Amino acid sequence: MTTHGRVLVVDDESGIRFSLKGILEDEGFEVIEAESGEAAVALLEGGEAADLLFLDIWLPGMDGLATLSRIRQERPELPVIMISGHGTIETAVTALKSGAFDFIEKPLSLEKVILAASKGMEFALLKQENLALRHSLGDQTVTLTGESPAMLELKEMIAQVAPTDAWVLITGENGTGKEIAARLLHATSRRASQPLVAVNCAAIPEELIESELFGHEKGAFTGADKAQLGKFELAHKGTLFLDEIGDMSLKTQAKILRILQEQRFEHVGGRKTISVDVRVIAATNKDLAAEIKAGNFREDLYYRLKVFPLTVPPLRQRASDIPLLIEDFVEQLVRRSGCRRAAFSPQALALLSTYPWPGNVRELKNFVERMLIIMNGREVTADRLPPEILAQCRVPAPGAAAPTAGQQTSNAAPAPPVCLADDEDDLADGLLPESFPAGPLDLKQARAAFEARFLEAKLKEFGGNVSKLAEAVGLDRSSLYRKLKGYGIMAD
Ligand SMILES: Nc1ncnc2c1ncn2[C@@H]1O[C@H](COP(=O)(O)OP(=O)(O)OP(=O)(O)O)[C@@H](O)[C@H]1O
Ligand SMILES: [Mg+2]
Repeated sequence: MTTHGRVLVVDDESGIRFSLKGILEDEGFEVIEAESGEAAVALLEGGEAADLLFLDIWLPGMDGLATLSRIRQERPELPVIMISGHGTIETAVTALKSGAFDFIEKPLSLEKVILAASKGMEFALLKQENLALRHSLGDQTVTLTGESPAMLELKEMIAQVAPTDAWVLITGENGTGKEIAARLLHATSRRASQPLVAVNCAAIPEELIESELFGHEKGAFTGADKAQLGKFELAHKGTLFLDEIGDMSLKTQAKILRILQEQRFEHVGGRKTISVDVRVIAATNKDLAAEIKAGNFREDLYYRLKVFPLTVPPLRQRASDIPLLIEDFVEQLVRRSGCRRAAFSPQALALLSTYPWPGNVRELKNFVERMLIIMNGREVTADRLPPEILAQCRVPAPGAAAPTAGQQTSNAAPAPPVCLADDEDDLADGLLPESFPAGPLDLKQARAAFEARFLEAKLKEFGGNVSKLAEAVGLDRSSLYRKLKGYGIMAD
């Protein structure tokens, strides 16, 4: 017999179990029963399949609310419909706030039972589909583009550590791809079908961190007008991604350390201890060893998180990935944003592979988007590159087109800066443009190119002293600083 799903009915009154079973079976559901909260939890923990639960609020022993919270820990996706008796409506409302799907009142009405069951089952199916979809998308969409030796090594390490349950600490400069590496780790781990919950430690105010991570009960503090699950519970059986951990206050670090050690906690304003099973992946752009020396990061937390360290190298150290990444981003933008495709000439690619990319892959991605919009289908040639980018490119080795995988430019002796020329094969040396470039460069761009090169040279001459340079060129310090940042001559 095919069924519409499997329902677990939990009630100590056999009469209620009997009538619910009758109604539900008539509707095509398969029904299993438990007469107490403990028995229901044992059934589910023992691997008994159920798509939906009817749960009485008043139960001897572990009551309905306690059973609900246990079940939500084990099977957060399972819809639970509370059965409320006379005088327990308020409790039913509390149950809804703690994650119950719905409630029905005793005496049971046939229509209400059927309606609640079919709504619950629809929800269960949607959740299951969603999970399956997320799983399949997860595998398809997380790709770490790059074939440079550094990238191949990183991918190899991810493949090794992903199936283990080891905790991982990912370090790398801004925009190098730490988050995408964490997503790939999760997507290729045994926890892939469970949630990946990301927490940006830098973005949560210190006084809210506990409630964010551990959840809170209604009324736990001013503004807590409803109970809320914390990130740790949401990540149960899955992965918790603690991003920007280098930016947490020492007080928050102490709290996190305790919970990471115990994997047990209480909701803010609650008394019950909740245990979770989470794998932690942490990421930071800070040098944590230096932060420890400076007294800004706890050494014990560092060692707790750094079971398996991974470093995502800056883009300038894997320049051979740049053409591949550009190709990838062009594809993405054409497909998703409807941008017009534009080709990058070999000379443009070769030059871009020498730009230092202080914002790493994120900067490259934004750059590609900007170029596609500006070019609107035209080819991106060397002389069409923005002046502030050109100002920091070097002349590639003679005859070099885009570097091939394996070639690294980071350790090469710096080549002279680029001088714009209309003919791509004729890129001349020299700090300042000797002649005015012809072609599509307009006056504004030429001025900017000149200004960038001029300020860069003068800044060097003044030993990097912005105030002295400001005085010399007759600009106030802050506008000069803005310009230097804008041209990428100084980092933020
Ligand atoms: N190897 C890669 N292949 C494809 N896309 C990448 C790669 N690395 C980074 N990206 C893309 O670049 C952007 C920045 O990556 P991500 O957010 O993972 O960096 P991050 O290191 O976490 O940055 P931040 O330090 O600023 O948090 C994202 O849009 C990401 O999809
Ligand atoms: Mg990030």
